[in-house]
Amino acid sequence: MNDSTSDTPPLSTSAPLLDLRGVAKVFESGQANVTALSDVDLAFQKGELIVVLGPSGSGKTTLLNLLGGLDRPTSGSIAYTGIDIATLSDRDLGRFRREHIGFVFQFFNLIPTLTARENVEFAAELVMQDRHSVDETAERLLNLVGLSERSDHFPSQLSGGEQQRVAIARALAKDPDILLCDEPTGNLDFRTGQQILALLQSLTSERGKTCVLVTHNSAITPIGNRALRLRDGRVQSDEVNSEPVAAADVEW
Ligand SMILES: Nc1ncnc2c1ncn2[C@@H]1O[C@H](COP(=O)(O)OP(=O)(O)O)[C@@H](O)[C@H]1O
Ligand SMILES: [Mg+2]
Repeated sequence: MNDSTSDTPPLSTSAPLLDLRGVAKVFESGQANVTALSDVDLAFQKGELIVVLGPSGSGKTTLLNLLGGLDRPTSGSIAYTGIDIATLSDRDLGRFRREHIGFVFQFFNLIPTLTARENVEFAAELVMQDRHSVDETAERLLNLVGLSERSDHFPSQLSGGEQQRVAIARALAKDPDILLCDEPTGNLDFRTGQQILALLQSLTSERGKTCVLVTHNSAITPIGNRALRLRDGRVQSDEVNSEPVAAADVEW
């Protein structure tokens, strides 16, 4: 059940990185309103890997979009290190997104006419001025995701797993503290998916990134420090996993 109603102590005594209070999102579509999220109270800490589960339509993508400042809640607050991003101007919300959030999508969304390296450089250029930093960042990140050898290939010349690695390198180019991943393994075979999950695990445990990983695959749940289940736009359960399993050891 939802921990917010129990006496369970908070995960950590330090101030949360993201703190959602009373968040709701209602979409107006035609005559009817669709309540995508309601009564969401959640706090995320630095370095957590949160696996978000829930059936199609339960509000997972809506939650990611709100966390990443791609959309605003209809009501409630979303505090990032104490600042309510829901009240920022469009310009400041854009800056928040640019500086702090890395997005990873199911279908990679790479720019097809740019090479792997250029895709990462393009993202780096949004936050860096000088050419040397951009070059160095792209090189280092493509190396980190194991793609140094293929950096001059276009997306169409790369496998799905390789494209997703490029997408992760691109998301990391701005050195975000939060990675928001929507079904990042949904379009990958099992082995490749494992490798991507292992990469996300190391980014949280070794580099202190906070990763919110949306999936409908419950087999992935044990790799996270935390499992959040959504149902009909509400938090159905929020469980801490004190002993995450290595991605290489989960099967689906
Ligand atoms: N832009 C939108 N306009 C209208 N309804 C939307 C919009 N985005 C999402 N919804 C609705 O909100 C609910 C939650 O959607 P979503 O967050 O995409 O769920 P999930 O990612 O879990 O499949 C669904 O009923 C969906 O149809
Ligand atoms: Mg979705």
